[in-house]
Amino acid sequence: MNGATGRMGYRQHLVRSILAIRDQGGVLLADGGRVQVEPILVGRTEATLRELAQRHGIEHYTTDLDAALADDRWQIYADFLVTKARVPAIRKAIAAGKAIYTEKPTAESFEEALELAVLAEAAGVKNGVVHDKLYLPGLQKLERLIASGFFGRILSVRGEFGYWVFEGDWQRSQRPSWNYRGQDGGGIVVDMFPHWNYVLENLFGRVESVYARAVTHIPVRVDENDVAFEATADDAAYAIFELEGGIVAQLNSSWTVRVNREELMEFQVDGTLGSAVVGLFGCKIQPRTATPRPVWNPDLAESHDYSHDWLEVPTNDVFENGFKTQWEEFIRHVVDDGPNRFDFLAGARGVQLAEQGLLSSLTGRRIDLSVVSLPALAVPSLPAAQQ
Ligand SMILES: NC(=O)c1ccc[n+]([C@@H]2O[C@H](COP(=O)([O-])OP(=O)(O)OC[C@H]3O[C@@H](n4cnc5c(N)ncnc54)[C@H](O)[C@@H]3O)[C@@H](O)[C@H]2O)c1
Repeated sequence: MNGATGRMGYRQHLVRSILAIRDQGGVLLADGGRVQVEPILVGRTEATLRELAQRHGIEHYTTDLDAALADDRWQIYADFLVTKARVPAIRKAIAAGKAIYTEKPTAESFEEALELAVLAEAAGVKNGVVHDKLYLPGLQKLERLIASGFFGRILSVRGEFGYWVFEGDWQRSQRPSWNYRGQDGGGIVVDMFPHWNYVLENLFGRVESVYARAVTHIPVRVDENDVAFEATADDAAYAIFELEGGIVAQLNSSWTVRVNREELMEFQVDGTLGSAVVGLFGCKIQPRTATPRPVWNPDLAESHDYSHDWLEVPTNDVFENGFKTQWEEFIRHVVDDGPNRFDFLAGARGVQLAEQGLLSSLTGRRIDLSVVSLPALAVPSLPAAQQ
């Protein structure tokens, strides 16, 4: 587990996923047996790793990634590093023949993201990328609504993601400062568009084009050491995505917005037969048959409470932490050859959307997205005698 000291590596991947899996006695396999997990923490500072390992009863930790990769005991390389450090580490893990599970984005550029997919395919190593938002209860409820035909023909998706991230001057920032420096792999487009790509393509259809406006609203922030720095990365992005089947998705992503909605992420989906508003957990619907009949009249103060026209979808399932559920799927894929829904190629499509979104912002153009596939692998030709 490389980067297990970080925000995501520690909370979501180590504590809420791997240690929770260890505590429950491992991952259930198809034959009813279980496979247990045994983590090794990899990082740059031995003292930090030792403290973390002791706190959680973890036996193994090291600052030597190469040695860990060369050791056959460790079957999966997992990467939660800052985005900038990811590609070189994953290249090494591929060369070592490990199965690989990584945070998104898989790379800073589409070229590198695709290269990782090609290298992993050529080396025959299993590979997976975090698609956590799809596992959220709200989005699972939405997936079920779509499958039920509730919406009829889906017309549009509108999404708001964001909250105010403090500048760091009079209150500490609640995100690492590298997020606000382009040269360090930061920026909200690079961070969020990979999420939007998999959410949109898995729930509604392939993203066919993007128009985006990325902005740096707050030009100066203050870092973890109380030093002011120039924010060189975008902290808000206003985008329109056109999807397969003519669906239009408009998504705002912002670290410079104050929350006036029920959850930090909310999507409204409108279809001919009904609409839904979903968050991380909640999901409310309004069917065609219960749609009110608003009449525009600016002379009269509003007397109707539109929020009361929606019906809450009940939580009929037990939803576990999404990171953990996806980890369990990936472990089953590695150990049991179970299905793998989200591989490096899916990761590359996310990076493509981020890259093209930034290009759109720079040029002011809407950009069509090509279908991403693995280039045909060069198959070595047999010597004439063997043909
Ligand atoms: N899935 C999600 O919802 C989600 C949310 C936030 C972040 N992320 C992704 O997770 C990754 C980590 O983000 P974070 O917020 O946890 O960051 P973080 O800064 O908290 O942690 C980064 C980790 O990388 C290590 N690191 C930093 N620089 C390094 C270097 N040069 N070489 C090797 N290691 C280095 C740090 O020690 C730390 O362990 C990013 O790629 C980010 O895009 C995903």
